[in-house]
Amino acid sequence: MLSSAKVEEFISPAPATLDEARAFIDWTHRARRAGRYICFGIVPQGQTDAIGIFQIWPVEQTFRTAEWGFAIGHRYWGSGLFIECARLVADFAFETLGTARIEGRAAIENERGNAALRKLGAEPEGLLRRCFECSGGVVRDHILWALLDDDWRRVRPTLTPDGPSNRLTESCLTD
Ligand SMILES: CC(C)(COP(=O)(O)OP(=O)(O)OC[C@H]1O[C@@H](n2cnc3c(N)ncnc32)[C@H](O)[C@@H]1OP(=O)(O)O)[C@@H](O)C(=O)NCCC(=O)NCCS
Repeated sequence: MLSSAKVEEFISPAPATLDEARAFIDWTHRARRAGRYICFGIVPQGQTDAIGIFQIWPVEQTFRTAEWGFAIGHRYWGSGLFIECARLVADFAFETLGTARIEGRAAIENERGNAALRKLGAEPEGLLRRCFECSGGVVRDHILWALLDDDWRRVRPTLTPDGPSNRLTESCLTD
């Protein structure tokens, strides 16, 4: 789902083989146990396979400031799944982890990724020059976005109402 040219264009390459996927999943578990990283797999209602991921990791050790990243299989773009998952993960961060600020970054050319962050109420705060090597070895400038707990309280009620709940299970890729 994630190792496709469209999905990978502005992010780092996804695991391309089952062995690489297993190694990634093992790494997520080790990093989670060490308190450095949390990865959710997105499993749409009625399905059994994950079609994308949401990741969140601490910028401050306590998770007071955290960063997130997300990728969804192309066929699910525009389906509403992104917003539904973003709501769950943002609620989890602000209400459970005690996060006050979630940072996100997107390559300038990634119009869809930037629009997605804006839609959640995040504010663009700056330009990160040549900050990330994306797929194909292309080094890109990124926009730094931040979603504060106040932003979230303001925007959350305006996002589309809860749809049919998709099963969002932590590290469900290992199932
Ligand atoms: C980022 C991602 C998870 C968002 O999921 P999605 O289902 O595409 O998101 P949505 O459709 O809910 O929102 C995207 C928004 O971008 C808008 N958009 C799409 N193309 C656009 C363009 N060229 N210019 C401006 N806005 C654009 C859409 O209209 C939509 O806004 P709307 O709902 O107000 O109409 C998904 O696109 C993805 O996996 N992309 C590849 C990986 C990636 O780039 N990750 C993010 C790095 S920050």
